[in-house]
Amino acid sequence: MQHNLSAEAILTHLNPDCSLNRLQIFDVIDSTNTAAKRMAAEGAVHGTVVIAEHQTAGRGRLGRSFHSPDAKGIYLSVVLRLGCDIATAALTTPAAAVGVARAINRVTGLEPQIKWVNDVYLGGRKVCGILTEASMEVSGGVPAFLILGIGINVEQAVFPEELRPIVTAISEHTDAPLDRNELIAALLNELDILLSSLSSREFMEEYRFRSLLIGKEINVLRPDQTIPATAESINDDGHLIVRLEDGTLLTLSSGEVSVRLK
Ligand code: BTN
Repeated sequence: MQHNLSAEAILTHLNPDCSLNRLQIFDVIDSTNTAAKRMAAEGAVHGTVVIAEHQTAGRGRLGRSFHSPDAKGIYLSVVLRLGCDIATAALTTPAAAVGVARAINRVTGLEPQIKWVNDVYLGGRKVCGILTEASMEVSGGVPAFLILGIGINVEQAVFPEELRPIVTAISEHTDAPLDRNELIAALLNELDILLSSLSSREFMEEYRFRSLLIGKEINVLRPDQTIPATAESINDDGHLIVRLEDGTLLTLSSGEVSVRLK
C-alpha cells in the first residue's frame, strides 16, 4: 500500500501560527493514543501529534477496537496541555467533533453531522470516531495532559462484516481526489482554533446545528436496559437532554444512544 503521509506536505498546509505542529509520522504503530500517552508521560510538549499509516491495535470507546486499514485513513493523536480544569477539558471531545466536521467540509464541501457524543457521520453512517483520554496526574483540578485521538475513514476499505452497514469513508461521498496530508492540516488548523477558546463554548452552537440526534426518537443504551426517549437538545456542557416516555427530562453526560428506526 502506498504510504504518502509526510510531515513536509502537512506543514505546507498548516497555518503558520498553528500550535499543533510537532508531527511524528509512523508507518505502523499499535495505537497512536497509546504512543502519545507514553510520549506525554515522558514530557512530550503540547502540540505533539502522533500520526500513523496503520494501527495494529487502534482503540475505541468503551473498550472497543478501531479498525485502521493501512494507508486508507487518518489515525492521529494530539498531546494537549491546555491547563484547564476537568469540566472545561471535557469539552475537548465535542469541540474535536466540530473540528473534524469543519475540516471535512473545508476540503470536500460535504456537510458532516455529529452523533452525540463523539462520532462524525456522512450520509447516516460513521466516518470518524474520537477517543479523548486524560492523564491520571491531576494538580489543582487540572489534568497534566489530554490525549485527543481521532480516526477518520478517508478511502473506501474492506471493513469487518459487522461494521459494513454502519461505517463509511469520505471517498464514498465525493469524486474529488482526497489528499490525506491536506485533510490532516485542515483538521489541526481547526482544532487549534477551537481548543484555544474552549471555555467560551461558542462552538456548541455549531455542534447542535450538525447534530444527528436532536428531535429524533432514540434509545438510551444502558448495560442492563434500553430506554426509549426523544432527543430534545444538547446543552453548552455537551450533555444530551432527552425526554422519556413519561415526560421526564433526563440529562446524559456520557453514554451510548441509538436512533430508533421507524
Ligand atoms: C470510537 O469510535 O469509539 C473512537 C475511535 C477513536 C480511534 C482513534 S484512531 C487514532 C487514535 N488511536 C487510537 O487507538 N484510537 C484513536
